[in-house]
Amino acid sequence: MARKKSKRQQQMEALLLAPVDWLEERSGLVGALKYFLFRKVPRATNWFHTLGSATLTAFIVQLVTGVVLAMYYKPDPESAWDSINYITNDLTLGWLVRGTHRWGASVFIILLFLHMGRVFLFGAYKYPRELNWLVGAAILILAMLEGFTGYLLPWDETAYWATVVGININATAPIAGPFIADFLRGGTEIGNDTLARFYSLHMLLVPGALIGLITLHLYLVIRLGVTPPPWGDDAETEPSTNGRPAGAREGLVDPKPRGNGGPALKTRSGVDE
Ligand code: HEM
Repeated sequence: MARKKSKRQQQMEALLLAPVDWLEERSGLVGALKYFLFRKVPRATNWFHTLGSATLTAFIVQLVTGVVLAMYYKPDPESAWDSINYITNDLTLGWLVRGTHRWGASVFIILLFLHMGRVFLFGAYKYPRELNWLVGAAILILAMLEGFTGYLLPWDETAYWATVVGININATAPIAGPFIADFLRGGTEIGNDTLARFYSLHMLLVPGALIGLITLHLYLVIRLGVTPPPWGDDAETEPSTNGRPAGAREGLVDPKPRGNGGPALKTRSGVDE
């Protein structure tokens, strides 16, 4: 039998819950967090499903280390390399922050591809998650652009010539190629303006867009639920009744199968609807 709480315990509980209640009443955030933490996931959820969160963790590491680097980096050709040199050799733990950011970039891209591979192999890009796949594809392009723009920043020989090659490859694209190359260079030659442009893209535009798209991506994951593995018990019963994907809440729009009523949907009992 549950032990009766003493008056003092009840008072303490009320005191602790007061700020939570205050927040919930004004924002609904506590309810949203509860929904997020206690939502249903497929029975056969496994380690493959952690690759998305691992990618997110790698992205956050890049954000944090990038902010520290930005405090010391100087984005002009005269002092860029010196500032990088200072970070690596003189700044306390600068080598660690820079090394984490540099290697972390590769880890982020590798995890991104592994996550994409798991989504593909589980068929998780299919209805109703096509939009989330497209959002993911946009994230992938921006992640590549983030790597490309970051590579120039140390302004050493490798960075310079890698950027020459990268811009020249872009210039070969049909019709838009020369415009993309001009835009990236910020003129006819790689120089001051290119570095400033790459810095701005790397620090502001691309990470900002990535944060927005990742937020949308995660919203869609929570709204639609995750796809069970093809070998799991729940796999064949998805999508569930009324064409609403398993695990999805009733929302503003209630997704329905496309076309002529769409393919027959299986209910949990296995009977066609
Ligand atoms: C910064 C990059 C990304 C982050 C942080 C991220 C994060 C996540 C997370 C946490 C999940 C749920 C759990 C999981 O399946 O691992 C997920 C699911 C998903 N992701 Fe990503 N993702 C990223 C990139 C991508 C890319 C590049 C694609 C594809 C082009 C993609 C497509 C999907 C799809 C379709 C789902 C739903 C999977 C399902 O229903 O089982 N994501 N993502």
